[in-house]
Amino acid sequence: MRHLLSIEDLSREEITAILDRAESFAEVAGRPIKKVPTLRGRTVVNLFYEASTRTSSSFELAAKRLSADVVSIRSSGSSVEKGESLKDTVQTLSAYDPAAIVIRSPHVGAAALVARWTAAAVVNAGDGKHEHPTQALLDLFTMRRRLGKLRGARVWIVGDVLHSRVARSNILGLQAVGAQVTVCGPPTLIPRDIEALGCAVEHSLDGLHAADVIYALRLQQERMTGAFIPSLREYAACFQIDGRRLRPGQLLMHPGPVNRGVELSADVIDSPQAAIAQQVEAGVVVRMAVLYELLAAEPPTSSPTRPAADMPASNASQREHAPAASSASAHAEATA
Ligand code: NCD
Repeated sequence: MRHLLSIEDLSREEITAILDRAESFAEVAGRPIKKVPTLRGRTVVNLFYEASTRTSSSFELAAKRLSADVVSIRSSGSSVEKGESLKDTVQTLSAYDPAAIVIRSPHVGAAALVARWTAAAVVNAGDGKHEHPTQALLDLFTMRRRLGKLRGARVWIVGDVLHSRVARSNILGLQAVGAQVTVCGPPTLIPRDIEALGCAVEHSLDGLHAADVIYALRLQQERMTGAFIPSLREYAACFQIDGRRLRPGQLLMHPGPVNRGVELSADVIDSPQAAIAQQVEAGVVVRMAVLYELLAAEPPTSSPTRPAADMPASNASQREHAPAASSASAHAEATA
């Protein structure tokens, strides 16, 4: 894998390998010293041209926990405000010889453009309403942990599907691992050709009881150019997930940020059925796994069973034996 621009860049096997790798990093995250030396001496540039709390902080933490040098740039306060183009910014930052550039942009296709302008590996951290592949991976990680498996899981994605890069990446990622996806929302917020992606479409929550996972989406008001809903109150009356609509046993997810009282009621956000905090936690270890796959994984021609010396093993049986040894070596290298 050279870049991660779309979840479609990954096969089912590659998705599973990233989730397994993330499990091994979750074990590292439970240690007092959460760092491994994998990317020591290498540079990761985070370039965020759009608002972000979770994605930017977790990419930063992920790179730091892999011991990379990290440069984080936001459009506000940078030379972008002085009119510098994306291409010139990327070329300027490429002078630092980064191993990876993580980019979030309001423009569809921005990450793919950056990949043409730099020798670094590029990770798409959200390009307009197009894709957000690492969000889909962390959602799959969270679902797999909570449900035990992904194949056959029935997932309802509810809300503003039209403007959501998270919905698109999740539909594709979930189907790649054998889950069944239904998207649900008012007709104005469901893209016309969405069935072509292989999901079912509903315009009411009547069948919601059949879902194993309810994945609620925020209304992306910043991407709306007209009136897509009559009012927030009417939208909430038809599509808000609240204590009456959430059935016992169903898992509730949301990528954040949540608009309390719009797509979710306050009681369900704070219920044990909600995995919203686990999704945030998963963001760090899954992004560590993505950076690892892009920058440090052994090429496929070498032995696939032997883990890198400075990494905890990624399969369960190896994991049982790995922590003590890798913890000691990680600590020794981190403090060397
Ligand atoms: C999402 C995004 O930016 O696309 N958030 C995120 O990455 N955690 C969803 C959203 O903003 O609603």
